[in-house]
Formats: sequence, structure tokens, C-alpha cells
Amino acid sequence: MNHDVKDLKLASQGKLKIEWAGRFMPVLELIRERFRKEKPLKGKNIAACLHVTTETANLMITLKAGGANIRLCASNPLSTQDHVAASLVADYGIEVFAIRGVNNKDYYKHINAALDVESHITMDDGADLVSTLHSKRRNLLENVVGGTEETTTGVIRLRAMAADGALNYPVIAVNDSETKYLFDNRYGTGQSTLDGIIRATNFLIAGSTVVVAGYGWCGKGVAMRAKGLGAKVIVTEVDPVRAIEAEMDGFRVMPMLKAAPLGDLFVTLTGDIDVIHKGIFERMKDGAIFANSGHFDVEINKQHLAELTKKKREVRREVVEHTLKNGNKIYFLSEGRLINLSAAEGHPAMVMDMSFANQSLAAEYILKNGQKLEKRVYNLPEKLDKRIASLKLKSMGIKIDRLTKRQREYLASWQEGT
Ligand code: ADE
Repeated sequence: MNHDVKDLKLASQGKLKIEWAGRFMPVLELIRERFRKEKPLKGKNIAACLHVTTETANLMITLKAGGANIRLCASNPLSTQDHVAASLVADYGIEVFAIRGVNNKDYYKHINAALDVESHITMDDGADLVSTLHSKRRNLLENVVGGTEETTTGVIRLRAMAADGALNYPVIAVNDSETKYLFDNRYGTGQSTLDGIIRATNFLIAGSTVVVAGYGWCGKGVAMRAKGLGAKVIVTEVDPVRAIEAEMDGFRVMPMLKAAPLGDLFVTLTGDIDVIHKGIFERMKDGAIFANSGHFDVEINKQHLAELTKKKREVRREVVEHTLKNGNKIYFLSEGRLINLSAAEGHPAMVMDMSFANQSLAAEYILKNGQKLEKRVYNLPEKLDKRIASLKLKSMGIKIDRLTKRQREYLASWQEGT
């Protein structure tokens, strides 16, 4: 079996953690049981590029139960849990190419190794795999029926590819299912981002001023949870509607330049470049801490930070102190890599359950329907999204009302008014 992981001796530790996460993924488990019987992915090759976590391990086990041959690589150089990678290889017979802390060259070497299987399905988180396939490995495109994409950033890239006529097969935007973004992006990112910051710094959120850049679903989650922990939260936005939402949700809204001298802690979740740049670093107060929780490490301008830095040293794991030319010491977390996965364990399994139920059903759906679809980005059908929600509710022991026949008719009619 091919693989490239840090140390297979870590497997037993990884297995325990994979099983622990599995306890909180009942919907995925139900899908796995069905997949085991029906084998909807039988003999199909999947190249998966995801954060190699305990939750992803449970997804891989589910896809394998469905009959797929999988090659898994990491979707970020700092998010791999090495014990999980080891266990997937040693205990579950899944080919993994992922080591935490690899350089850019090895990151892409692993993506290429995942692509070597000549996949029928691509499963991506951020679209690095799809973009490598479409630029450097075009000879493999012919085989691919379709793909799935996990995250907002990846969906944006894929839509840009489709608009350019560059996308060669249909992709399901798993991110855009309600059972994904409403929970994973909001509650998952909300909790795991603060978890990462707290693990890295042991910083007290209560009473501090937290600046949240971006008020999409991820930003909403972080702002809400920081407020819950007692922070004074400032939101920065470029979208006028989201800015009103943030204001009416009770946060202060202002441009980043104004927020710069006020923040004790800054978190970027915009999906765009240069959110924190030279002018912001220069205005930050002594002791300010800043981290990114967006997909790529581009939101905090590292080049500008280097230009302003007189001296730097690692003061804790994941924390680098930069002494600036103006004399201030400011603290950069996890080299700007997503803080929730680099300094903590990513989103809890309880939300990843729904995200990865979506991935599993999307893989099954694209395999069945890929040939009929156009080369663009689709949502998972609403019926499947609702089914995942119903299964999740059931697993939580929550019952809800059902529409009566009369209510259904009313909703479908237009004649009844005042
Ligand atoms: N993205 C965010 N959290 C994650 C997790 N726990 N596993 C995989 N991908 C993630």
C-alpha cells in the first residue's frame, strides 16, 4: 500500500481518537451502514484533499465501506493530525499522503500522489486538488465523473473556473447545503477558532476587544462566541448588508483602520487577501494578537509584517512575537494558517457529522448523475439536505411538528387571502 505519513507507530493513538469522534457522528454512521450493504461507490477511485482529522477519518471509512478506493492528501500544510494519518493507513487500509508541517513542495507532491489513482471523483477542500488536476495533470481529467467541494473558498474558486469555461466536470458545492454552512461554518468555526486561539495563547477573552474581520457565516460564529465569552466585539465588513446585520446583532462596525488601535485580538475570516496589512500593523497596540481562520494564509500580509519587523522569536507553540520598528511587540498565531486546525482540532465531530454526511451523499449523487450534469457547480438537491437534517434531529432525540394536509394545501394555494 502506498502512503506517506509521519510515523505509523502513532496509529494506536489515532485509532482511539477516530473512534471517539465517531461517537458524535451518528448520521454518518447510518450512511456508512447503508453504504456497507449497497456499495454505491464500488470500484470507484476517489482522490480526496481534506484536513486529515479524526472526523475526516470517519468520512474515509464511510466511503471505503461504500466500496471506494481512496487516496487522501491534506488540504492544508498545518492541519494534518499525524496520528490520524497513521491509523488510517495501519488500521483502516486507506492510502494517506499527509504530514503536518510539510513545505509547499511536499504539499503539492502529496496532492499529486492522491491524483495518481486516476480518480472518478474528486473530493476537495479549498480546490487545490481540482486546480492542480486542471492545470498540471490534465491527462487525468477524462476519467473524472464529478467532484465535491467542502468550503466557501473552494466554491468561489470553482465558480470562477466554471465562469471561465475552465471547469471540466460538475462539482457539488457541499458548503452550500444548509446542513453544512449553517452549522459547520457558524457553530463549528465559532467554537474551534476561539479554541485554537485559547490553546495557543491562554488569553482571557472576557473584557478584551476582539476584532472580527468578515461577517459571513464563519465570522458570525466567531463574533457570537467571542461575545458569549465576554468580549467587546468589533466587526469589519465590505458588504453593506452584512454590516447592517452585524450592527443589529449588537456589534460595533467600523473600518479596519479604525479598529486597528482598539483590538486586543484580531481574527480574519474573509476569504480575501491583505485584510491586515502594513497600515494596520503600524496602528495596532503593543501586545495585540492576530490570527486567521479563513481557508488560505493570505488574509494577513506576511510580507508587510516581515518588512515592519525588527526582531522575531517563537514565544509559545504557534505564537511568534514580532518586535516592530515602532517598538511594539505584536503576536502572530500559526503563521496565518487556519487557527482552528493548526492550534486546535478543527470543528467538533458533532457538526462535521452533517458536513460529511453531505460529502458522502454528494459522492453517491455525483457518481449516479455526473454524466447528465453540466460542467458547473451545483448544490446538493434540497431533498438530501433535508434528509440529513431529519436524521440529525432524530439522533438528537428531537421531534418536530408536521404539516397537516390542510396546511400543505394552504401553502400551495394562492386564492385564500384576507
Ligand atoms: N474543517 C474544519 N474542521 C474540520 C474537521 N474537524 N475535520 C475536517 N475538516 C474540518
